Amino acid sequence: MLLLKLYRCSPSSSSSLLVIAYRLALSAPLPALNVLGLLLQYRSALDASLSLRYSCREGICGSCALALNGSNALACLSFHTASDGALHADTRLHTAPPRGRLLQLRSLAVAPLLHHAVLHDLVVDWLLLYASFSAVRPWLISSFSTASSHSYSAASRCSRSLLEAHYECILCACCNASCPSYWWHAGAYAGPAILLQSLRWLLSYSSASSSIALLHKAQLAKCHSILACSFACPKGLMPANAIVALQLLSS
Ligand code: SF4
Ligand code: SF4
Ligand code: FES
Repeated sequence: MLLLKLYRCSPSSSSSLLVIAYRLALSAPLPALNVLGLLLQYRSALDASLSLRYSCREGICGSCALALNGSNALACLSFHTASDGALHADTRLHTAPPRGRLLQLRSLAVAPLLHHAVLHDLVVDWLLLYASFSAVRPWLISSFSTASSHSYSAASRCSRSLLEAHYECILCACCNASCPSYWWHAGAYAGPAILLQSLRWLLSYSSASSSIALLHKAQLAKCHSILACSFACPKGLMPANAIVALQLLSS
């Protein structure tokens, strides 16, 4: 049995915020059942009205990011083990050494990703993230015309190797949601997710986008090297290091 505490929110109802606790009998041997599996089991067995986002169920799409026992994490890569009652992140996909995020609790509290406006239950609004993405434009802006369809821009072997531990970012926003500076400068700080994406493009194509470099000058000072972003990343990436690299590049 697991004590599951679920955040429910319906903006259209008068009681917009509810935390509901259930004792849930587990249908699969642990750790086969991850937190996303638990939530889907709850939804099919007890309440089909629960809203949540998910797609790939294996840490690729980034859509199932939630606050689990107070820490931002991907539900599909987080497991509740019967043996120690701990919640931990799957580290198989990590490129950096696992940081052993362990929460020694026998109950599981599930809430929407921190510091995001809630649309319904566990579903948050990504507007802020996409607005920053559009403003910084962390992608390749090609000088090739669409008419020359056989043209391509090849990254050098050297710049390809620099992409390791950067290209794996899935834009789940766990780092943004954990960053105090992102909370304090709502809308004015792109946040570690977008800045790591920016470095990824600057490393592979120095001419990727002049707007990236320009915006960084106004953005980078807002990072105070608290490192909460790197501790939160479910892919084992280090957005705080990426921001330091951007600071060096822009100095
Ligand atoms: S850096 Fe990590 S936590 Fe941040 S968006 Fe990318 S994958 Fe998610
Ligand atoms: S290191 Fe910078 S981006 Fe990361 S949590 Fe701290 S202030 Fe935010
Ligand atoms: S469902 Fe895709 S990352 Fe979890």
